[in-house]
Amino acid sequence: MVYQNNPDFARKADSQDPVQDFRRRFYIPQHNGKDSIYFIGNSLGLQPRTVSQYVRQELDDWATLGVEGHFHAKNPWLPYHEAFPKELSKIVGCLPNEVVVMNSLTVNLHLLMVSFYRPTKKRYKIICEAKAFPSDQYAFESQAAYHGFDPADAVIEVSPRNGEHTLRTEDIVSTIRKHADSAAIVLFGGVNYYTGQYFDIKTISNAAHAAGAYAGFDLAHVAGNVEIHLHDWDVDFACWCSYKYLNSGPGGVGGIHIHEKHVADKTLPRFAGWWGHSKEDRFKMEKGFNAIPTAEGWQLSNAPILSMAAHKASLDIFGEAGMEKLHAKRRMLTGYLHFVLGDINNKRTEKVIEVITPSDENERGCQVSMLMLKKGREIFDALMEQGVFADWREPNVIRVAPVPLYNTFEDVWRFGNIIESILNS
Ligand SMILES: Cc1ncc(COP(=O)(O)O)c(C=O)c1O
Repeated sequence: MVYQNNPDFARKADSQDPVQDFRRRFYIPQHNGKDSIYFIGNSLGLQPRTVSQYVRQELDDWATLGVEGHFHAKNPWLPYHEAFPKELSKIVGCLPNEVVVMNSLTVNLHLLMVSFYRPTKKRYKIICEAKAFPSDQYAFESQAAYHGFDPADAVIEVSPRNGEHTLRTEDIVSTIRKHADSAAIVLFGGVNYYTGQYFDIKTISNAAHAAGAYAGFDLAHVAGNVEIHLHDWDVDFACWCSYKYLNSGPGGVGGIHIHEKHVADKTLPRFAGWWGHSKEDRFKMEKGFNAIPTAEGWQLSNAPILSMAAHKASLDIFGEAGMEKLHAKRRMLTGYLHFVLGDINNKRTEKVIEVITPSDENERGCQVSMLMLKKGREIFDALMEQGVFADWREPNVIRVAPVPLYNTFEDVWRFGNIIESILNS
């Protein structure tokens, strides 16, 4: 696609977009009676219009059936979560028995670390990216401390080189090699929340294994966004949230992946609960935990059906749209945003925006992080006033994410146009 920074091009691209109709399936927040430019699906995805109907179904079944809804609801609650692996396994590239929907993200990260971070005196280090999302940093620090290690010694952060914003895969791999004798676990965000860099998960996983460590990933900014093949890339474990690109509502239920080679391993320690116990004899209510030999064996509690209903509404839309089409549009839409920002710079004698997200489309998803070199806060405030949803991260980064399910090429053009008009004022 040869991009042009003008409204005719954008509208034509929208008219040729094979997934254009899906935008109508979402509520778009309004600004002065018009659709806003919602570029913050990397924080909270929009609400599918079908969510209320899916949740209403469960409320009605609860009202009419009470506890019997566990067995006789239209979608019985007891096996409700079993509906998810079909779609989710396509979204995160794993086998259905390697995925389960449960809890929320940081909780799941801790639960997975219980199983996969089992430090010894010799092998106790956690290798991660510098500036991981704070909740992940707190999880790493507190896990190290819980096992009696000093987090300052146990948590090894890989940083960008001087003058660079993103990590080089070779630096990640060499850090893992350097700590090969002491690394217990390599735990990265799949896409870094700040820069939008999509790490080379396969290479990191291989390097972790070569060093004798487990490889795990926080996929909050990956799930529903970029292609990933958790099974084939031999990722030991991963977790994600459903409220960003998966559009399943604030605080929505999270998901985990555990590689097939581990799912039936009963020697892995875990914090157990009755929902992870063998389904055949769960209700015998007897002593002695007997784990389900799939990712389901990591569940603790019975499922939060109302939150899961919202998740189901959203995943059904992903199923209809198909990940391939969404990935194709994502590449074009985010590529267009890069082009428009480049055009804004090119029209000026000095650079005004430095895009810190990788320019290689294989190293990024929807998100584009813009380091504002001129009028940053002024531009951000004007964007907000004009109905653009974006976010500001100190000291001067604006993060935006055009999402293929509901954003348009015209959104991208309008966004660039607002920035230009502020720069010209
Ligand atoms: C990368 C990453 N990790 C962890 C979290 C925290 O998620 P939660 O509050 O669902 O535990 C977030 C939230 O945005 C995130 O982006």
